[in-house]
Amino acid sequence: MPRSASISIPDPFSSVDVGEERKVILTAIDDSGAARRSVHQGWEEVADAYVADPLGLFEGCAGRLLSLLQPPSGAVVLDIGTGGGAVASQASSWIGSEGRVVGSDVAMSMLRHAKPTCAAPGSAAAGFCQMDAEWLGFADGSFDVVACAFSLFQFADMGRALVEMARVARPGGRVGLSNWGPGYFTPIAGMQRALFREFDLRPILANPITFRPDELRALLESAGLTQVQLEAEKVDECFKDSQAVWDYNMSMGPFPMMVRDQLLEGDRQRLHERFLEIIDTIASQEGIRCTFHVLYALARRSS
Ligand SMILES: C[S@@+](CC[C@H](N)C(=O)[O-])C[C@H]1O[C@@H](n2cnc3c(N)ncnc32)[C@H](O)[C@@H]1O
Repeated sequence: MPRSASISIPDPFSSVDVGEERKVILTAIDDSGAARRSVHQGWEEVADAYVADPLGLFEGCAGRLLSLLQPPSGAVVLDIGTGGGAVASQASSWIGSEGRVVGSDVAMSMLRHAKPTCAAPGSAAAGFCQMDAEWLGFADGSFDVVACAFSLFQFADMGRALVEMARVARPGGRVGLSNWGPGYFTPIAGMQRALFREFDLRPILANPITFRPDELRALLESAGLTQVQLEAEKVDECFKDSQAVWDYNMSMGPFPMMVRDQLLEGDRQRLHERFLEIIDTIASQEGIRCTFHVLYALARRSS
């Protein structure tokens, strides 16, 4: 178990029964260390803003991940770092009423949004549990498909989380991840990075937000996953204005925590103003155009 772990508060969503041999047990949340606590706390606080997904970006990418993963009908699917349940809810209609979906996330406030998304008739039953991705409370080989969308880089020990994903997938089972590829969202990411440096902001995440394809492949392979396939795709988006770009950042758990913990009130205000000023330089009549770089990874647990 994690050092100085705190047990999460029991809640209707904190445990789920996915069948006789697959009882889910409540595991500890690893909140050891300031960085882990901050990431967890950050996501607890932004749930409403995050799930609003004004660009529809996460919904769209969830659909794309499933179309690459092709979960068979009747499959048992785990969505790790499910957030508002973008992947879990689409997976539940994809696999039909014979299947089962479990969504897990460290943040209970995210799970409260996820639960109602999986109610469509003919969909698979879905359950949600508060669980740390590095300490999954599932038996080995419990799932036909394990998905993890835009969450891997949030986990302090990514290697450990990937080993857990491989462990809970059944032999020959599929693992699919969506991640940010080099560039994250161009041209905005580079502009805001320079501004954050100006304000001396240090990232609180243990990992970079983006992965190079070779790095991601190496990570998956070192967790024992095989047949790794990578798909880099671009998604063009348009924020309505510079404030919407700021709001997007503020809906990403670790970002508001970083600003709050590292800047005094006056500097926070100045950062916000400078941010809008800088982003306004690329505004067009339509808004702020940008391109998100998504890197999907598909793999299998060896048989
Ligand atoms: C960017 S959101 C992605 C949510 C969702 N998968 C989607 O595609 O919209 C990242 C999610 O990872 C979760 N998370 C962060 N650290 C975690 C951990 N150690 N274990 C489980 N979930 C974690 C956050 O609470 C958040 O819901």
